Amino acid sequence: MEQDGSSQSRPPHVLVFPFPLQGHINSMIKLAELLAIAGFKLTFLNSHHNHERLVKFNNIAAHSERYPGFEFKTITDGLPLDHPRSGNWFLDTLEDTMELKMKESLREVLVNSSPPVDCIIGDGVLSFALDVAKEHGIPIIFFRTSSPCCFWVSYSIPDIIQAGELPINGTEDMDRLVTTVPGMETYLRCRDLPTFCRKLDIEDSIFMKLVVKTTRKSLQADALILNTAEELDGPILSQIRTKCPRVYAVGPLHAQLNTRLNAKHGESYDHFSNTLWEVDKSCICWLNKQPNRSVIYVSFGSITSTSREQLVELCYGLLNSKTKFLLVVRPNSVIGKDGEGEDVVMELMEKSKDRGYIVNWAPQEAVLNHPAVGGFFTHNGWNSTLESIVAGVPMICWPYFADQHVNSRVVSEVWKIGLDMKDVCDRKILEKMVNDVMVDRKEEFAKSASEIATVTNQSVNVGGSSYSNLDCLVEDIRIMSLKKLTK
Ligand code: UDX
Repeated sequence: MEQDGSSQSRPPHVLVFPFPLQGHINSMIKLAELLAIAGFKLTFLNSHHNHERLVKFNNIAAHSERYPGFEFKTITDGLPLDHPRSGNWFLDTLEDTMELKMKESLREVLVNSSPPVDCIIGDGVLSFALDVAKEHGIPIIFFRTSSPCCFWVSYSIPDIIQAGELPINGTEDMDRLVTTVPGMETYLRCRDLPTFCRKLDIEDSIFMKLVVKTTRKSLQADALILNTAEELDGPILSQIRTKCPRVYAVGPLHAQLNTRLNAKHGESYDHFSNTLWEVDKSCICWLNKQPNRSVIYVSFGSITSTSREQLVELCYGLLNSKTKFLLVVRPNSVIGKDGEGEDVVMELMEKSKDRGYIVNWAPQEAVLNHPAVGGFFTHNGWNSTLESIVAGVPMICWPYFADQHVNSRVVSEVWKIGLDMKDVCDRKILEKMVNDVMVDRKEEFAKSASEIATVTNQSVNVGGSSYSNLDCLVEDIRIMSLKKLTK
């Protein structure tokens, strides 16, 4: 019998707990919205800092009206509110300040929750949530917001080391195939491993150890959620399922949410972007004036910083190509002193005139789905990669760190929907790749991107794999909640 005084007939109460970064919040909030549509009570546990930004740039009142059982709660991310949180700030704090403070706050939230939390969906990076869930006897499912391929490579790192394929030494042939990641033997090269594998001394790579630890710990949860479709990542999902039988592939989540909202409210329904930056919608007016598939969209997500040298090569590569471009340059995203690099951007604006348009932050989903956009020059963050796939837009990949090096390899070599420019910073090569994707090999890439888009979009339609997997997840959370109540 239940001992917490709550009624078994009430909907399950799920607490969704993301890592405090835009890329993680984006997909986790979409999953939370999907569970709210299924009738669950939702608590979305955001950091104070990100919640302030969410409230500033989104209509949270309208959000609450749409999802009455959806509540935002906030906790500290371990840093003072006025800290700039630029660059890779989270790497320095993750294992000590962030874990310590967030763990304590999570406990408090659980103790004070009414109705009690029946299931936690935790960001797999925040592996300490598993210990807290166990302390409180609450089922926990981990959600990894990065790609399944990267998850699988990260899981396999101890085996790669054991086989002597890591560390990468100073004279390494970076094109050498890595043979010890099952399912990836034919295409994964040294240069496609996550960047933390490039440290010469394995013992020194704190980040690598942390990734291996969190990845292995993810498999101790009651289940694992991945933002992908069986049709996209089937072979790798099969490998992951040999270690964790309960894996729900429910993505691409933004597309699944669109499908379910459109079915409920009609196509013209306004969707939330959950952005942490002010969106400059003027670029849509500019795109409206451009011919079909004539513009390459250039954006590197929410964390990536570029050096001045990279920005110069990028700008001149774009200028010298035959293509129009829409470029996102986030404030303070150029490495160096405040404002450094702005001269390059100003120069580019001056020289490009009507061939280019530059914004600080774009409505990315709308941009990728705009008929004028024919290519995406991307860092291959997992959200950006999925958004491009769903929109049927071929990519030029310029990965920066984490899962992006693996993602770009899969995009170019497995799905064949783009070109990989990793480890290169040269305006001539950039110009050639832009011309290849946008002009010379345009039809070839458009065809392959459209084929992948079709199967991916089918997966989130009624009867599709991701649609059915989400229904199973909903059902399984109901069962887990009931079991918890009757314990
Ligand atoms: C990071 C990792 O790279 C990613 O793989 C991981 O899964 C989550 O954290 P990030 O580098 O920010 O995220 O990239 P990405 O995953 O692509 O997320 C960026 C999000 O910001 C996308 O959903 C994109 O639509 C949005 N965005 C980006 C905008 O809305 N406007 C912009 O101008 C740029």
